[in-house]
Amino acid sequence: MSSPSSADGGRLGVALLGSTGSIGRQAVEVLERHADRFRVVALATGSNGAELEAQARRLHPAVAALADGDAPLDLPAGTTRAGGADALEAMATRDDVDLVVVGTAGVVSLRPVLAALRAGKVVATANKETLVAGGHLVMAEAGARAAERAIVHAGDPLASPLAWLRPIDSEHSAIWQCLVGEPRGAIARLVLTASGGPFLDATPDELAGVTPARALQHPTWTMGAKITIDSATLANKGLEVIEAHWLYDVGYDAIDVVVHPQSVVHSAVLFVDGSLKAQLGTPDMRLPIQYALTHPERLPSPATPPDLVAAGRLDFRAPDESRFPALRIARQAGRTGSRASAALIAADEVAVARFLDGTLDFPGISRLLEVAVTRFGEGADQAPDVDSLVALDREVRAAFATGPIGRPA
Ligand SMILES: NC(=O)c1ccc[n+]([C@@H]2O[C@H](COP(=O)([O-])OP(=O)(O)OC[C@H]3O[C@@H](n4cnc5c(N)ncnc54)[C@H](OP(=O)(O)O)[C@@H]3O)[C@@H](O)[C@H]2O)c1
Repeated sequence: MSSPSSADGGRLGVALLGSTGSIGRQAVEVLERHADRFRVVALATGSNGAELEAQARRLHPAVAALADGDAPLDLPAGTTRAGGADALEAMATRDDVDLVVVGTAGVVSLRPVLAALRAGKVVATANKETLVAGGHLVMAEAGARAAERAIVHAGDPLASPLAWLRPIDSEHSAIWQCLVGEPRGAIARLVLTASGGPFLDATPDELAGVTPARALQHPTWTMGAKITIDSATLANKGLEVIEAHWLYDVGYDAIDVVVHPQSVVHSAVLFVDGSLKAQLGTPDMRLPIQYALTHPERLPSPATPPDLVAAGRLDFRAPDESRFPALRIARQAGRTGSRASAALIAADEVAVARFLDGTLDFPGISRLLEVAVTRFGEGADQAPDVDSLVALDREVRAAFATGPIGRPA
């Protein structure tokens, strides 16, 4: 990690990619709350120019980028506009950036994340594609940076891949927090909790009639539309199993999913001695975002602490993969390799968009995933380079953008 500029009071320079989304806005809140530690240097987003302008007026970044290059953008004095295909990479590797926070959806952040890690920047990411499609690439880079630090000083906090590639997702943050101070060889199993979404007890007939409006009502979390639908199908938990495999280097057979409707236990680690260590909190993404930014320190946050007495009871049950097949399909894609996982996550983006626009029914999401993984995910090269991953992403999206989705042959 490059040293924070002493001219700036030792504050860490931050590039925030996807600043206007659900994660991005909450990251802005965390960064503003800890403005004594962080200086926002770069902001990037997709099409929401009005919100980007408002953020730039509050945070005064050196640079701001809107993917929609033709749209007008009224930035304050001192903030320049970045553009072009390489804008995110350029922002993520600036000399005055120490930490890159990734809140974009989709594969767009994969190149910037790799470039940032190569340039010695710490990356805190909520983005799923980073690990689901590019886990073999990003963890290799994070591992290389950690190994360089370990040569100098084994006790350096940056001598761990997780200090370079920091998870924001609440489940992976929970596992990360459980692993602090624990030897790697002591892990027996990872336990990812899932809220189960709004249709936990729905019958197959009820699932067939689920509407987008109903699926967007998550019982415990407030999130972006895509991830809310993914929670309802359990595809999100399948993607998280793949992310956990890469982050913690644990085999798929040792990663469990447990449905926990109250979303208080965010995930847990079972150790070889039979001890199960969990992290608990109220469902509030500002906490895992802040932990990823301040690790290994903990600072006060606006999250309400969990009240176990008020909660009264915490329930757990096994997921039903016959009613929610996306979890099984994702796990299988993960086992097959990164090509299959990349096909899965690209297909999921199309499937959710089609469900939301009414051209696919709710069970059709899982059907599309299975067809896409079967058609595009197989093949010998299960560790594609970034160009191949981006091409595959495009190919899968084009193949399923329209038309009926049958069962896989
Ligand atoms: N929301 C959560 O609570 C949560 C929890 C865990 C993990 N995640 C993961 O975090 C990621 C983001 O989720 P989200 O819910 O925050 O999504 P979101 O609300 O859809 O936000 C996505 C952000 O990416 C921006 N973006 C899109 N295309 C871009 C481009 N070409 N260049 C730069 N920025 C671009 C969007 O900009 P515009 O809005 O301007 O188009 C927006 O700021 C996803 O991978 C999700 O699965 C989310």
